[in-house]
Amino acid sequence: MAASRGEFGSRLGFIMAAAGSAVGLGNIWNFPTTMAGNGGAAFVLVYLALAFLLAYPVLMAELTLGRHAHGNMITALAKVSSNGTQRGIGMLIGVTGIFTASLILSFYAIIAGWMMGFGLAFPLEAIGSQGAADWLRTDGLMRNLGLMFGFVILTMLVVAGGVEAGIERWSKRLMPMLILTLLALVAYVATLDGAGAGFREYLVPDVSELMSANILTDAMGAAFFSLSLGVGTMLVYGSYVADNEHLPSLGVQVALVDVGIAVLAGFLILPAMYVAAAQGVEIFGAQGELISGPTLIFDVLVQLFAGMEATGMVLATAFFGLMSIAALTSSISMLEVPVSFLVERFQWSRMQASLVASMIITVMSAVIIMNFGALFGLVVTASTEIAQPLLGLGLCIYAGWVWNRNSLLSELAKNEPSEQFTLFMRIWPVYAQTVCPLIIVVIVGQTLF
Ligand code: PFF
Repeated sequence: MAASRGEFGSRLGFIMAAAGSAVGLGNIWNFPTTMAGNGGAAFVLVYLALAFLLAYPVLMAELTLGRHAHGNMITALAKVSSNGTQRGIGMLIGVTGIFTASLILSFYAIIAGWMMGFGLAFPLEAIGSQGAADWLRTDGLMRNLGLMFGFVILTMLVVAGGVEAGIERWSKRLMPMLILTLLALVAYVATLDGAGAGFREYLVPDVSELMSANILTDAMGAAFFSLSLGVGTMLVYGSYVADNEHLPSLGVQVALVDVGIAVLAGFLILPAMYVAAAQGVEIFGAQGELISGPTLIFDVLVQLFAGMEATGMVLATAFFGLMSIAALTSSISMLEVPVSFLVERFQWSRMQASLVASMIITVMSAVIIMNFGALFGLVVTASTEIAQPLLGLGLCIYAGWVWNRNSLLSELAKNEPSEQFTLFMRIWPVYAQTVCPLIIVVIVGQTLF
């Protein structure tokens, strides 16, 4: 069994793939716009606190469970269980995780499809195909369905290609390009009129906003979404990590890259919103609050690029192209969740499993597109602000309470037995067992009631 499972070929390969999963639309589409709707800097503070105090410990629970089980979420939770009831509940959590990963992919593919459309539109315009470019940039049922389907096919092809040749190879090449393009854009936007107001909004917290009821819910949802937590993605990636790797430091690196890129994207999007406002784009709602709908960054960025003439075309193509790629390295990690289950449970080939899972996700996504107003926001909230944190709670309970403590510690210290006595090993297990569940219960409870 172990021999037929994929494994990351190198340490860098894992970090790039896991960071590739973490970095995506969550960082550049969700984080800045959620932040804009929640008072800027105050939200950033809460987000950073939750990312390190809550999301990182949950990430460690996933990676550790995954590497221990060398299998998907259902196998992993069953493996640490010691009786039938625990195994049954573990299976239920695992199935919910697989379903949630598929649900997330079904809305993710819609936005990623738009990114791809915008990425293609600018070069098409440059070669004179104005009609095609306009079609790609204008909201419409056929456009949304077509681009979503194209994106799902791409995702399927990479996943069918396997762990090392597919996921690892692509993530390693594309992530550095994304960071460079972002840096270039941040530097450019900083030179434009209006950018200063955006930087102020981003960096100077309004303390009264810290008390707003939504801020905790939104920041926790954003942190879980951004680090790909709860649904078994990181668990499955952890299952492909070699035994001689030091998991806690791999986890830290992934979390730092992810949070770093979200923060960097904020330096682009918030100033860009104010620059766009100075040029006439509407960014404030009726009450004077920043608006933060799903199409906001498209409007803001297109306006920004339009003011840059030829350079704008090149930058727009690079930006939307790289965003599509960042979305792809995330979507492959979501599809890997149902695929690894189908391969391990039913011995299907990766091709067959990817095909079936993608078909189901395409149908779910088409249903959302056809009822966009009613379903899109609902699916995003239900999956990222409720399901992901609650599943994270389940994972903490399995890692902390159900799993035998000695076996947990020896899994974490597999690469180096003396590791058992480090500060991390002393603090994390108890912390993930008590503090993390408490934070999640309080925030989700506040959201629901
Ligand atoms: N972390 C991804 C992003 O920030 O875009 C989204 C994501 C990937 C969520 C994988 C969940 C997941 F399982």
